[in-house]
Amino acid sequence: MDRLQQELLKRLKARENEGSLRSLKYTSGLIDFTSNDYLGLARSEELFYAIQQKLDAQRFKSNGATGSRLLAGNNSYYEEVESMLAGIFQAPAALIFNSGYSANLAVLSSLPQRGDTILYDELAHACIKDGARLSMAKRFSFHHNDLNDLEAKLKRAEGKIFIAVESIYSMDGDACPLHDLVTLAEKYDAFIIVDEAHSTGVVGERGSGLAVSLKLHDKIAIRVYTFGKAMGIHGACVAGSDVLRSYLINFARPFIYTTALPPHSIAAVDCAFRYLQVNIQLQEQLKQNIQLYKKAVQNLPNRTDSNSAIQTAVYPGNALVRKVANALQQQGLDVRPILSPTVPKGTERLRICLHAFNSVSEIEQLTEALKSFQLVAH
Ligand SMILES: Cc1ncc(COP(=O)(O)O)c(C=O)c1O
Repeated sequence: MDRLQQELLKRLKARENEGSLRSLKYTSGLIDFTSNDYLGLARSEELFYAIQQKLDAQRFKSNGATGSRLLAGNNSYYEEVESMLAGIFQAPAALIFNSGYSANLAVLSSLPQRGDTILYDELAHACIKDGARLSMAKRFSFHHNDLNDLEAKLKRAEGKIFIAVESIYSMDGDACPLHDLVTLAEKYDAFIIVDEAHSTGVVGERGSGLAVSLKLHDKIAIRVYTFGKAMGIHGACVAGSDVLRSYLINFARPFIYTTALPPHSIAAVDCAFRYLQVNIQLQEQLKQNIQLYKKAVQNLPNRTDSNSAIQTAVYPGNALVRKVANALQQQGLDVRPILSPTVPKGTERLRICLHAFNSVSEIEQLTEALKSFQLVAH
């Protein structure tokens, strides 16, 4: 075995020893409490056929974009869908990215310059942190949702200041205090970047997310919306001013140096938002399921507080949380463990995603199982 293989194996072995080795698995036939398909759009046959119809009717019969948007990859359909998105997210403009990962990378790496400061929530998604690492600006994290800690850091920040947060946090499902954050940002003349990955589709008229539903959108300079979660498809967009859109087209490397999404994906974005508009009751069904779940687990001491589709139950230690997840899976419930180092040691947890399509009996089966494991775990 050559030296590189040996080195790689050593690192994999270390992961295995700490119980955090990742591997790809199939799941089939289990009750879905793990996917980000909060509204069931990914599994909707009606949407599947609507996308197929849209593709059949397309003027552009092309299997791929054939280049970056700046080369051969652009067409008028892309821009029509971007106008629709700008309307939904109540922004002057929207720019589509290949994924939420690349949208956040684009924003964080291209907007803040040398001499500027990025302040990001410590629980922000990896792509926000990776984007900040690629920027020449100074970067500091602040304690999760702690505006006092953020203010202490704002006082010391230099240059233009960017504050990066998520509207709903991906691990715990808790919300960012957006109203207070906007007030604080105004005080320090800072620009907010909000990642709405887990609120796109789920919240607001036409799935417009948290900032729009709180009527704060005009106060937030840069908003990232992703389509791979509640919208059930793939891709993302950044919503903001026309100048922001032009700037990203010119300076955002994850936009410039990649093949654009294929026409299929653009048709999927178009159809998914239209589908949601006429099936907006899915948001209400999801809300009812969240209420049902929360009521059933209200006495569980290891749950964390969240009003969103993402709920958690902490089982400290990789071994324990894995054991509980495996036992749930054996009962037919697809619940996954979140291990350290993804979350800090001692806070390993089950991440439970609720969906509009989960039935009352499925939710009861899950909550009963969680209560019985509570006795075993403590
Ligand atoms: C908060 C957050 N932002 C961004 C992303 C990345 O989005 P995408 O899956 O579209 O790349 C995720 C996905 O895990 C996420 O949870």
